[in-house]
Amino acid sequence: MNTNPAHTQWMARLGMQHPIVQAPMAGTSTPQLAAAVSNAGGLGSVGIGAYGAEQAEQHIAQTHALARRAFNVNLFCHQTAAADAQREAAWLAHLAPEFERFGAMPPAALRSIYTSAVGNAPLQAMLLRQRPQVVSFHFGLPEAAFIAALRGAGITTLACATSLEEARQIEQAGVDVVVAQGMEAGGHRGCFDPEQDRLLSTLALVQILVRQTRLPVVAAGGIMDGTAIASALQLGACAVQMGTAFILCPESAASPAYRAELQSDKAYDTGITAAISGRPARGMVNRLHLLGRDYGPALPGYPMVYDAGKALHQAAAAQGSSDYAAHWAGQGAPLARAMPAADLVATLARELAQAAA
Ligand SMILES: Cc1cc2nc3c(=O)[nH]c(=O)nc-3n(C[C@H](O)[C@H](O)[C@H](O)COP(=O)(O)O)c2cc1C
Repeated sequence: MNTNPAHTQWMARLGMQHPIVQAPMAGTSTPQLAAAVSNAGGLGSVGIGAYGAEQAEQHIAQTHALARRAFNVNLFCHQTAAADAQREAAWLAHLAPEFERFGAMPPAALRSIYTSAVGNAPLQAMLLRQRPQVVSFHFGLPEAAFIAALRGAGITTLACATSLEEARQIEQAGVDVVVAQGMEAGGHRGCFDPEQDRLLSTLALVQILVRQTRLPVVAAGGIMDGTAIASALQLGACAVQMGTAFILCPESAASPAYRAELQSDKAYDTGITAAISGRPARGMVNRLHLLGRDYGPALPGYPMVYDAGKALHQAAAAQGSSDYAAHWAGQGAPLARAMPAADLVATLARELAQAAA
């Protein structure tokens, strides 16, 4: 068990009663979910990576209104891939027959639909105005001046690492806490550079980061119940971050089709693909995963591929198909439980206490 006060202080400061962070899940987490988790003594998170500054501000303000305790706001810090018209056209041509199946036309060109928080002055100013108690980073780090400004505003910072190299950069940047994301995790791999992905497991990565960095480590990936939380704490993590476990909560934004898939045999078949968004992410395997596997040339970058994937999903969903959906889920997906978020936090806390006794 990690009893190092330097590693648990941040949680005490935030008033967390349980070492449980509900993962930010852009498009799936909601102000209601985050607030329910925080109010139940965990740390709720909202993911604003898919929003512009204005919509993100509304989302945060809504969470402030619902949460009686600290919550986390998550930012995407990716390096936007350079446009490559040839690559994009080739990928669209590969997908054209799929659009045809639904009587739809592929988009003429692909747009960079998500803006990075890196160097994004309006977004950064908005965050300093809204002052959530916690801000976390995915896909990399923002510039030093923004991290310093967050620190100056008394905001606790977390950043995702999938390797020791990334964790060392996070430590050097003065971020407070590292989230160790194993390859079991649902959603996007947080790698700074997907080409360098080592696909380490949660088990191995947590042990490495606990021994080889000085930062408090939050374990993420495949953790679905209190026994698994106890194991992560036993390895030296100070807390866990759980995403897939919270998708079936009524407070999440998951669609009925997503919930049904997660409660079917499809939950046993998750895989990592870049064919949905342009960056590797783990979800329930569907037709778009397979189209990516068959594809020889290099894919366009993130988030250009997402523009194509979302258009295809929209055309298919209108006809009742979720063959191309971004139904992210981790390897623990078959263990997801459908219950209100507050009940899930209480259940996890009870299981953890039993496992630790
Ligand atoms: C539906 C879904 C969406 C996600 N979106 C984000 C996100 O916006 N930002 C982020 O930092 N992590 C995101 N993640 C990854 C989580 O932070 C975390 O690493 C992962 O959920 C842990 O693995 P688990 O799903 O097995 O619990 C997402 C995960 C899921 C399942």
